Amino acid sequence: MPAISAYAPGKIILFGEHAVVYGRPALAVPVLQVKARAAVLANVRGPAGQVRIEAPDIQINCGLHDLPSDHPFQTLVFMVCEALSIQSLPALTIRLSSTIPTASGLGSGAAISVAFIRALSAFLGHPLSDEQVNALAYETERYYHGSPSGIDNTVITYAMPVYFVRGQPIERLKIARPFTVVIGDTGIKSPTIEAVSDVRRCWQSETAHFESLFDQVGQIALAARQTLENGETAALGPLMLKNHELLCEIGVSAPALDALVQAAVAAGAQGAKLCGGGRGGNMIALVAPENAEKVAQALQQAGAVRTIITEVK
Ligand code: MEV
Repeated sequence: MPAISAYAPGKIILFGEHAVVYGRPALAVPVLQVKARAAVLANVRGPAGQVRIEAPDIQINCGLHDLPSDHPFQTLVFMVCEALSIQSLPALTIRLSSTIPTASGLGSGAAISVAFIRALSAFLGHPLSDEQVNALAYETERYYHGSPSGIDNTVITYAMPVYFVRGQPIERLKIARPFTVVIGDTGIKSPTIEAVSDVRRCWQSETAHFESLFDQVGQIALAARQTLENGETAALGPLMLKNHELLCEIGVSAPALDALVQAAVAAGAQGAKLCGGGRGGNMIALVAPENAEKVAQALQQAGAVRTIITEVK
């Protein structure tokens, strides 16, 4: 029997990270240049129920039950079996790989979960719907993010631009005119769960101040949505810079991120901001297509360990 494979893209948050955890709107788009892959193979000689996990990128090569019981891969297998009312599995191997840098704000955890759920459910003969995949991936996101809004698993499952408000039906984000973004990676690993937990502590001790910051971020996301729907892309740049300032006040930027934002603007980007959990990871810069290479080079000179040029449409 051939291996059954599934893929899921990375993502960037254009506007609204962190505030989205507290019910404000956010805008996110998939990034198709990077992806996670899951492949499921039958082990014809293995005993029934023996599940092997091979994920060389994160140094995992073992039996499923050798992983800690709360490990997301255990949870994923359990949830897929439960969703399909399957009591026992045949012997199989699940191979995972990804070109999405981990702990960098590009949705690597959610993408692995989505690809894993799709490949395993298809291998078991009952591919789950996008809605089911999204719901199961959200459960796994709790492991990575603590109290996730659900935006990462949603934009990655549906692989389309989304206007997202926690707990509300998913809306496709209309982008009237495509635009170009350069993504710059500080190379600093920063687990989202830590930034999200720190923000929560600050919100608990200074609730009024943080609510006001989240309101301002939410208003920017709303204005950006309008701008995108009307095709007024030029107006996005200042909104990105304002969103970055607010993320600095929220306490999730880092000197390396600020340096990349400044370098992008100095090289002619119309706007730039950190993207995702922050503290490290990636930032994005809005550029004219003909200026993308120049901005990417400026980011590398300012310390970016890698850059991706992507068209958002
Ligand atoms: C992480 O990509 C986005 C955050 O807003 C967390 C979340 O929404 O769950 C920082």
